[in-house]
Amino acid sequence: MTRLGLFVGILVIVALAVLVGGVIDFERDEMQREIREFGPLAPVIFVLVSGVLGALFVPGPVFAILASALFGPLLGIPLGIAGSVVCALICREVGSHMGRDAAEEIAGARLGQLTTWLDRYGLLAVIGFRLMPAMPDAPLNYAAGLTRLKRWQIGLGTAIGVIPRTLGWGLVGATVGGGSAWLATAGGALIIGADAGGAIAAIFAARYLGISPRMLWAKLRGAPAEPHAHGPTGKGRWGAGGGSGGRLGRGKVGHMRIAIDGPAGAGKSTVARLVAERLEFTYLDTGAMYRCAALASLRGEAAPGEIEIDFAPDGEVLLAGEDVTLLIRSPEVTSLASKVAAEPSVRAGLVERQRELMAHGDWVAEGRDVGTVVVPDAELKVFLDADPLERAQRRAAQLGADVNEVLAQQNERDERDRTREAAPLKAADDAVILDTTGLSIEQVVDQIAALATSRTQG
Ligand code: DC
Repeated sequence: MTRLGLFVGILVIVALAVLVGGVIDFERDEMQREIREFGPLAPVIFVLVSGVLGALFVPGPVFAILASALFGPLLGIPLGIAGSVVCALICREVGSHMGRDAAEEIAGARLGQLTTWLDRYGLLAVIGFRLMPAMPDAPLNYAAGLTRLKRWQIGLGTAIGVIPRTLGWGLVGATVGGGSAWLATAGGALIIGADAGGAIAAIFAARYLGISPRMLWAKLRGAPAEPHAHGPTGKGRWGAGGGSGGRLGRGKVGHMRIAIDGPAGAGKSTVARLVAERLEFTYLDTGAMYRCAALASLRGEAAPGEIEIDFAPDGEVLLAGEDVTLLIRSPEVTSLASKVAAEPSVRAGLVERQRELMAHGDWVAEGRDVGTVVVPDAELKVFLDADPLERAQRRAAQLGADVNEVLAQQNERDERDRTREAAPLKAADDAVILDTTGLSIEQVVDQIAALATSRTQG
């Protein structure tokens, strides 16, 4: 945290020194002379120098104009784009070394869903941010270094995203370098068009992803879970178990398997149970099976992959015939379950059993890999997520435990579930991603039931 704070402080000072204090001063003619001295290497030197100066907050358009003025638009525009990519990659390296861990901790707790989006839409996100108007280059580049975005996503996304404006400024540069004034006019029009197009696209993308400035601000402040925990309708408590959603009386929607995956505390079991109840499907809690494997392992019983697990008609979990419904919720079992679940032999045995169970009939199955591994051909896949802090708050309220303790354990389990080799927790490519932050249980159940209905009708 100290390092991240220091880093941001230094960046602010550098930005002020360059943008307000004018400490970096260059004459175009002088630079033209100096660059020319490098002969055939001049374009390469230009790209490297513009990358470094860009990282020192010299605004991007300066280089786009210079490149065109120095080398002509045909070479200058590609060089301008290359300079932007070099700048983005330099900033990414610096940013990721200076504060990624601390940033992840802050973003993980406050902006969990945004992290999920960046993981999912990495390249598109970079292109999108580049296309947006009034985005300051260097701060954006450093911010990208604080995320889990990959180098190729940042590089390629930047190369694509800066094209319209670099083209515009490049045409302006062509006029500066002695070309017709019409080039600058066309460049100006292109820049205005790119800004307007970027703004419109940003508005649509934000609406599509359900992002609003108010929501972002609330998340950054670590807004209390209160409006979400009970939902806007005030009905239904997350994690409280069945009942609150009620039935719509729609009845069965047809033969199908609904896979609901997501991290701990996202509301999977509450929601899956209610969806199953509403649609008259059978509910399958795959997590309970891993918990059974952990319990068997704690007891030193048969190899966890070979245990006999059954579900009684009223939902009790049976381990070799014994009712272990409550036992498998103990903290020891909970903690061991995520370790046991990382063992491929355990997974193989349980996945086979889950497929066997779901071979016939209609199911709502929840877990971590139902849509990706167990039934990748499921008719409907949903990935439920929510702010880590809110997830911990829901679970703490449910268990009557301390939020910070629950959050720490949850982060540890999430990390283990997400990074394990065997079937890590992730959304299937064709899963519908549902952020339950800010939604009531009823709203989530309604959405899934509606999706299920539309899938059978479609
Ligand atoms: O959903 P739960 O907390 O009851 O799950 C218990 C553990 O089992 C959890 O650490 C993740 C793991 N699990 C899994 O790896 N794959 C599943 N399909 C379900 C659960």
